[in-house]
Amino acid sequence: MCGIVGYTGNREAAPILISGLKKLEYRGYDSAGVAVFHEGEIKIAKSHGKIANLDALTSGGASLPGFVGVGHTRWATHGAPNDVNAHPHLSDDGRFAVVHNGIIENYSALRDELIASGYEFKSDTDTEVISNLLEYCYDGDAKSTVMKATARLKGSYALGVICRNDETGITGRIFAMREAAPLILGLGVGENYFASDVTALVEHTKNIIYLDDGEFAELTPQKITVYGVTGEKIDKPVSHIMWDVKAAERGGYEHFMIKEIMEEPAAVKATIDPRIKDGRVVFEDFSFTSERMAKIGRIIITACGSASYAGEAGREMIEALCRIPVTVELASELRYRSPIIDESTLVIVVSQSGETADTIAALKESKARGAETIAIVNIVGSSIAKLADHVIYTWAGPEIAVATTKGYATQTAVFALLSIYFAELCGKIDGERYKKLVSELEKMPSKIQRAIDINHHIPYLSKLYADKKDVFFIGRGFDFAVCREGALKLKEISYIHAEAYAAGELKHGTIALIENGSLVVALACCRELYDKTASNVEEVKARGAKVLAVVHEDNKRAVSTSDDFILVPETEPLFTPIAEIIPLQLFAYYVAKENGCDIDKPKNLAKSVTVE
Ligand code: AGP
Repeated sequence: MCGIVGYTGNREAAPILISGLKKLEYRGYDSAGVAVFHEGEIKIAKSHGKIANLDALTSGGASLPGFVGVGHTRWATHGAPNDVNAHPHLSDDGRFAVVHNGIIENYSALRDELIASGYEFKSDTDTEVISNLLEYCYDGDAKSTVMKATARLKGSYALGVICRNDETGITGRIFAMREAAPLILGLGVGENYFASDVTALVEHTKNIIYLDDGEFAELTPQKITVYGVTGEKIDKPVSHIMWDVKAAERGGYEHFMIKEIMEEPAAVKATIDPRIKDGRVVFEDFSFTSERMAKIGRIIITACGSASYAGEAGREMIEALCRIPVTVELASELRYRSPIIDESTLVIVVSQSGETADTIAALKESKARGAETIAIVNIVGSSIAKLADHVIYTWAGPEIAVATTKGYATQTAVFALLSIYFAELCGKIDGERYKKLVSELEKMPSKIQRAIDINHHIPYLSKLYADKKDVFFIGRGFDFAVCREGALKLKEISYIHAEAYAAGELKHGTIALIENGSLVVALACCRELYDKTASNVEEVKARGAKVLAVVHEDNKRAVSTSDDFILVPETEPLFTPIAEIIPLQLFAYYVAKENGCDIDKPKNLAKSVTVE
């Protein structure tokens, strides 16, 4: 989704803005632009397509001198992705320039009102309404004007605004506002920043202020002042970011995705280790009691995309160990279907970014209905982390590739921790089994490493199968949970049509699609069920399908008639999904590479889906 960056200080703004936008590229975008204030005027440069176009247009920012500015990467919602609709948007008289992430729901009514007052619109965007509204509300002081105008906006927005000289004579001011869209402030020395996320700022500062919904910030080179909804000053805490600049760079790898796959052993270790103390699972943020656990009638896991598939693996673990009913609900559905949730429901939301609009809405809905909520989140200080009753951070570090890899692996690792923790509180696990599970979980980082090491042939397999138009992933039990993520990985980065089916469902319809040469990826690591999956493999083979089996490394015979094999190290059965997904991520990566796809930034996708 759109990325925003703002700068005020004593250095040339445009190169800093463009470099910040490059760091935000991973969020997904189709055009980019910057606005810089210089000698009484706001100058704008914008271009559709890659940031490289904007870079070339401005000679790396050199053609736009000035020390104050805002920049934007746009992911189109209102209006086609072209130069005119790209941000920043200037007001009719050129006084205000605005960058915006989100959707202004009442833009149509505001636009009509402004047109009736003589304003002309050049773009199809909802954002241009904001710049003209600012001009319409202008009272001589940019700060009070911005507050007046934003009070009239309905919807979600992270906004960055610059104003050419106003009557206050204060120079170098930029403004930032947040309502249900991510925005952070960065503190420098003699310079200050805002941005959609930390990656854009980490090379300049590690001192961050997280804005909350309804808050408004005024930035000058010397200071940042934050105001609440009614204009009162707010003392905001400053957080220190732990990320290293290098964590958000490719570090010699061809793509972020492969770098992030290689980081999975370390990411899972960083997520598990601090939560195992003296052989016991502990969470820093919360502790439940057996009495509290006894009152939980059921658990709902809600999330979107891969995070919901991590939830599917989580359901297998929690139900198996705790015998509490668990359902996984897509957040985009749960929010609208008047869910049956009350005080006896524990709701677990899962999100890498912590900013997914539907997941935020599902979390709010669950809280409103009385549920206690736990968030499994990667981004510290994100909206979901702030909203949930309890937070468990996945310590995956920055995930830049649009396709999540270490995000998913660390989420499933947290579910493993949670399932052991809950099982004890439910009285469903004896001391010996507890000890065994903890020790098996501690081995998962090395098992993940092994899953990478024993699959050196995946680039070769990818060449064999890269021309397939349709791929069917089948499996049972936790294998089926992993199928869903495996299929999503393949489709989102290689654009090959891939679907996951419960293997037992094949005969109920899907087998009609199997024909000579179809590729079926059969996951058969769930030991109690693999002979059933093996029968399904025979059925598709009989209809001419090629079968790529995903099996334990010592168990190729599980589906011996398969054409090729992907291998998974032996683990505690419940924790298999944490390792089983790794070779499927590698397979998706190498197929996409073989097909020359833009792996880190697949078409039409955004990393953080901050609009509905
Ligand atoms: C992952 O590869 C996807 N791009 C996507 O499904 C993602 O998992 C989903 O949008 C949820 O994002 P979140 O974890 O940041 O909430």
